[in-house]
Amino acid sequence: MDDGELLSTEAIVDHMSFFMVAAHDTLTSSLSALVSMLAAGRDCRNGCATRSPDFACVRMNVAFDRLEEMKLTEMAFNEALRMIPPFR
Ligand code: HEM
Repeated sequence: MDDGELLSTEAIVDHMSFFMVAAHDTLTSSLSALVSMLAAGRDCRNGCATRSPDFACVRMNVAFDRLEEMKLTEMAFNEALRMIPPFR
């Protein structure tokens, strides 16, 4: 708190409950949007599969520190967020 007083246990539990629900809800809805749009859009799906190392990386179970190489996946995710935002 601003006055330096510690938060109560109840306040921390409330905060973390809200945090976990918000993180879960935004992520699951945006990933669902991405997957459904990829499933529906043949051009995008083929593009991602053939024109970038992205999906090869997925098949190879890419390491966390190489995720930034997946540029097309990031672009597709941003487009899914734009078209079906998880919040307004
Ligand atoms: C695609 C998924 C997500 C979207 C679209 C999203 C969106 C947002 C937005 C719009 C805010 C600002 C809210 C405000 O100021 O009123 C925010 C804040 C925040 N989000 Fe997310 N979020 C996502 C996933 C996550 C996940 C998975 C976590 C944690 C595991 C997370 C943790 C946070 C935290 C800690 C803040 C507060 C940051 C601060 O105020 O300094 N978010 N998020």
